[in-house]
Amino acid sequence: MNKQLTGLFGYPVEHSLSPAMHNAAFKELGLNSTYLPFAVKPDNLKEAVRGIKALNIKGVNLTIPHKQKVISYLDQLSNEAKLIGAVNTIENQEGKLIGHNTDGRGYIRALQEEAKFNPSGKKVLVIGAGGAARAVAFQLSLEGINELYIANRTIEKAKGLVKDIKTKVSLNQVQPLPLSDNKLADIIKKLDLIIDTTPVGMHPQTDVEPVISAKLLHSNLLVSDLVYNPQETVLLQEAKKVGAETLSGLGMLLYQGVIAFEIWTGKKAPKKVMRRALEEGLK
Ligand code: ATR
Repeated sequence: MNKQLTGLFGYPVEHSLSPAMHNAAFKELGLNSTYLPFAVKPDNLKEAVRGIKALNIKGVNLTIPHKQKVISYLDQLSNEAKLIGAVNTIENQEGKLIGHNTDGRGYIRALQEEAKFNPSGKKVLVIGAGGAARAVAFQLSLEGINELYIANRTIEKAKGLVKDIKTKVSLNQVQPLPLSDNKLADIIKKLDLIIDTTPVGMHPQTDVEPVISAKLLHSNLLVSDLVYNPQETVLLQEAKKVGAETLSGLGMLLYQGVIAFEIWTGKKAPKKVMRRALEEGLK
């Protein structure tokens, strides 16, 4: 049988941990498949997507800067990809290209499987209002959370995301806030989950102040950071000091890959092997 090809379109792609993660999974299951990084310049994205069909590539992940622009070149979108407005996984179904977004679902699986946290009925603060925040906020809204707050440095972006969620998903309470708002202290007292989607604390700038004051954290919280440094971010370190539960960004990275792998192969992904490959790559 011919080797089945999968890969990643991004620009740049050199530092991605996805090839190691997926290739380890293919090897573990004895599949004759490989995952390659492709440095696709923004101007070449359309041709690269046509190449998926021409070369019969089974599946592709998308990363910066292609996640939004790729939508116009696909044949069909999953419900989540439509809502989030971004695609991180393409499935080539016998020549039909279907766009999925496994970032949000991957985040939820990490919450459930790693932190044993069920989002249904919970009160949640998302910090940041960029692409990652969109995926996480929409997916949490679909999972039946009760209250959602979106705090961002640029309030207009938080307002835009809140408006979008309100028009597309039914959710009792969704509210935008500036990151510096003094209402944040009272809101955080009643929360179950805080998710930092900003790059604050990302390697190599690890010695910084957390994106919200550590004084606001308490022991009833799960504090989650989408950054996946080898060491914990300053926010997670502070959260641990007050007795809160924590979840690093490695879980979301792992499970977005697990879901993509399962879409492409129809087989249960070998999670342990994939996690080990990510941890090795981070060393
Ligand atoms: P991603 O796709 O990773 O979400 P993004 O779309 O560029 O990346 O979004 C980055 C988010 O982090 C934004 O919400 C950004 O805030 P602004 O909208 O005000 O730019 C936030 N962010 C980045 N650096 C930050 C910092 N130093 N302090 C607070 N927020 C920051």
